[in-house]
Amino acid sequence: MSSYNILLLGSGGRENAIAWKLRQSKLCKELYIAPGNPGTATLGSNLNISVNDFDAIKEACLQDNIDILFVGPEDPLVNGIYDYFKADPQLKHIIVVGPSKEGAQLEGSKAFSKKFMQRHNIPTAAYQEFAEDNFDEGIAYLNQHTLPIVLKADGLAAGKGVVIAQSHEEAIQAFTTMIKEAQFGDASKKVVVEQFLTGIELSVFAFTDGKHYVLLPEAKDYKRIGEGDMGLNTGGMGAVSPVPFAQGDFMQKVVGRIINPTVKGLDAEKIVYNGFIFFGLINVDGEPYVIEYNCRMGDPETEVVMPRLENDLVELILKMHEGTLNEVLVAHDRRAACTVMLVSEGYPGSYPKGRVMTGFENVKDSILFHAGTAVKDHNTVTSGGRVIAITSYGNTISEALAISYENVDNIEYEGKYYRRDIGYEFI
Ligand code: AMP
Ligand code: GLY
Repeated sequence: MSSYNILLLGSGGRENAIAWKLRQSKLCKELYIAPGNPGTATLGSNLNISVNDFDAIKEACLQDNIDILFVGPEDPLVNGIYDYFKADPQLKHIIVVGPSKEGAQLEGSKAFSKKFMQRHNIPTAAYQEFAEDNFDEGIAYLNQHTLPIVLKADGLAAGKGVVIAQSHEEAIQAFTTMIKEAQFGDASKKVVVEQFLTGIELSVFAFTDGKHYVLLPEAKDYKRIGEGDMGLNTGGMGAVSPVPFAQGDFMQKVVGRIINPTVKGLDAEKIVYNGFIFFGLINVDGEPYVIEYNCRMGDPETEVVMPRLENDLVELILKMHEGTLNEVLVAHDRRAACTVMLVSEGYPGSYPKGRVMTGFENVKDSILFHAGTAVKDHNTVTSGGRVIAITSYGNTISEALAISYENVDNIEYEGKYYRRDIGYEFI
């Protein structure tokens, strides 16, 4: 059996979890991670290359004989790394896990994804799109809109492009800052204004070859910094899988109304898409709606999805490449998995770095996925807002959480913060 050299792009907890999963495959020969983190360094070789430096990535691929490029984050996908590889005679044989630049627009442009959903009758919040040329119309629209009002910068804004305005004044202020003051640069030249939906969110992941797909374990993440889902949005403070309501009738609706038409729609429009489609969904009284698409796996969802995926990930990638994902049966671990993210004090605002971390040797029965850590003078230190994800299995979500929280106490650093209520709806 042949085996494959793999280069994984990214440096977060998500990439640590993907590297952990890839490393378990007998089909994985050498594993490289660019730029990686201290967690991925224990699983493969970190390369000091930025995920958006395509020329340096090319050089590394040629030097290390890379067979598979696995793109973790959205940035390089939205910037067209798939097309860059396919247009280069020296690189085009490399299997790229991730959609084309056009496919990545599902995440890269809210206006694109809204229009796509409209064309394919996929349930999502009603919306209008505005820019400089219909700015006044936008103000009038906001003035008559029911509260709260959701405003979204069209492009990538590092998770900060969504405003949920509780008053018309706040909405008009946010709208004006985005368009007139280019708050998020080109990303906010266009703004999507949409209806507010009330319900429980969940993340569903399809892995597609462009025609067929398999479903990975679903998850729920906890985005707000504060307990009870209060306070500012973060990159994600924890996650659980499975999501108890994601079954039966509800999941049939998700598949029939959302996932099938999305994959069919991409195929019908000849949008090249090989990789993950992340459906950010909301359950409104039993009816699923799309809040957003992402063109990659979620973080911290991946830290519970990969542990529950029983299939060989490299095998899935090869099937994707052959276009035969319809032949694959995906097996989900029956156990629950949860992850609790330890973050730095101050996050998601400014936070200190370089705090020495101790207690790793006391961690039992959990998997640690590094996010924002670094090694300094032989110590592991904090180097990001989200520092480390503590993942555990259990027969139930509560059991899994109990193990993660025990280990939360084992890892020490000054200014450690975490949410104590991950999975609260399900216990
Ligand atoms: P996004 O960046 O699109 O994931 O939006 C960030 C968060 O804003 C989502 O996870 C939701 O919690 C919330 N959100 C976005 N759109 C809506 C909506 N139409 N109704 C209610 N909440 C929303
Ligand atoms: N956890 C949400 C995301 O990765 O966008």
